[in-house]
Amino acid sequence: MQLLKEKILHNSQVVSDHILRVDSFINHMIDPAVMQEIGQEFARRFSGTQITKVLTVEASGIAVGLATAMTLEVPLLFAKKKRPSTLQGDCYLANIYSFTKNESVDIYVASQFLSCHDRVLIVDDFLARGEALKGLIRLVEQAGAHLAGVGIVIEKLFQGGGKALREQGVRIESLIRIKSMENKQLHLEE
Ligand code: G4P
Ligand code: NA
Ligand code: NA
Repeated sequence: MQLLKEKILHNSQVVSDHILRVDSFINHMIDPAVMQEIGQEFARRFSGTQITKVLTVEASGIAVGLATAMTLEVPLLFAKKKRPSTLQGDCYLANIYSFTKNESVDIYVASQFLSCHDRVLIVDDFLARGEALKGLIRLVEQAGAHLAGVGIVIEKLFQGGGKALREQGVRIESLIRIKSMENKQLHLEE
């Protein structure tokens, strides 16, 4: 995780006590070498779990998801935040509330792309309170699919989302683990 770690230490900005900006390599401009490293690391950590599909939510999750899916050689499915007119037929839906944005959105996947035969790896860029992740897990449950685990690029431990889900037995692997960002100082768990 050398590239990712260097980027986090030298190219991210703590904008408040709880928001880290990573616009120059993940959230706006994307560094393909960093993404490739992330994808390979998730594939390594979940090797042997027979993943059939990677699942994420648009928009920022897609690059992480694609890098992971390419390494695992399985499809990437991304939940959509607006029901598209082209999304015909049945779909699974989950409502998620964003504390960051103070709004809730529905996320959708077409039921034809997720079934009880799937073994799913969920990935995302950030884990904060875990609302988005819980929504994605509900989609997996609705499909009757097996949740193999969750891969997160940056987990903000102090926001607690990971703790609650791990206590429920969800396997969450996070690559960068932030203990705190108080006074614009980034404190990582080693
Ligand atoms: P939660 O889902 O874990 O509960 O977190 P929250 O509601 O706070 O997250 C809402 C959105 O904000 C998500 O993006 C998430 O990736 C992003 N986010 C959370 N914490 C940070 C942070 O410290 N830095 C940055 N840059 N983003 C953060 P989203 O709404 O799904 O938007 P997008 O994927 O379209 O970008
Ligand atoms: Na995201
Ligand atoms: Na985001």
